[in-house]
Amino acid sequence: MRDAVRLSLGEGSTILFMVGDITKQDTDAIVNAANSSLMGGGGVDGAIHRAGGAAILDACKQIVAERGPLPAGQAVSTTGGKLPAGFVIHTVGPVWHGGSQQEPQALASCYRESLRVADQLQLVSVAFPSISTGVYGYPVTKAAPVAVGTCAENLPQCRRVREVRFILFDEQTFDAYVGAAEKLLHETGQAKSRYSIEKIQI
Ligand code: APR
Repeated sequence: MRDAVRLSLGEGSTILFMVGDITKQDTDAIVNAANSSLMGGGGVDGAIHRAGGAAILDACKQIVAERGPLPAGQAVSTTGGKLPAGFVIHTVGPVWHGGSQQEPQALASCYRESLRVADQLQLVSVAFPSISTGVYGYPVTKAAPVAVGTCAENLPQCRRVREVRFILFDEQTFDAYVGAAEKLLHETGQAKSRYSIEKIQI
């Protein structure tokens, strides 16, 4: 059993926050914080390719051959290979340059586009890592409200997707995301009275 936090958005849409390893998730898809080459790398990207096996890289090569490198903010899907998740949705987060180069817009686009791809695939549950807050240097306290706010806005509009899970690799990142969820709940207050947040064991 693990401590987790659940943000309910009403009408069956939920966002779950927990510390963990995204490669172990049994959601319908997991999202990869990739780079534009889609050829793998370190961090969560390396972990996903290692755990999922060569089928993921083969599919990525085919995508790049067909459409070229993937720009920041966009998302594409491949098989999950040997992962418990059936699909990997690869998205490219922005590199942090201080915040004046449209980084929040690009980061929001990553979450929006990944959810759109998942919905097109008719998936119900999607796990996200904390995109851009590792190698790409996006401060986690700035990234968390963008990540949580974008998912809270877009998840209820999905036709099929009902559950977003944020799988955070360390306690500090988990705390930043839960803090962002609590702030969102507080700020939306009356307007979104159907929102609620609770600690659960999973
Ligand atoms: N599960 C969940 N989260 C993970 C895992 C994992 N197995 N491994 C790492 N993380 C976390 C990191 O601790 C960080 O909080 O994912 C978050 C994102 O960090 P990065 O993987 O470095 O991703 P990002 O900052 O978006 O940088 C992308 O890194 O490896 C390269 O190819 C990738 O060039 C791209 C760049």
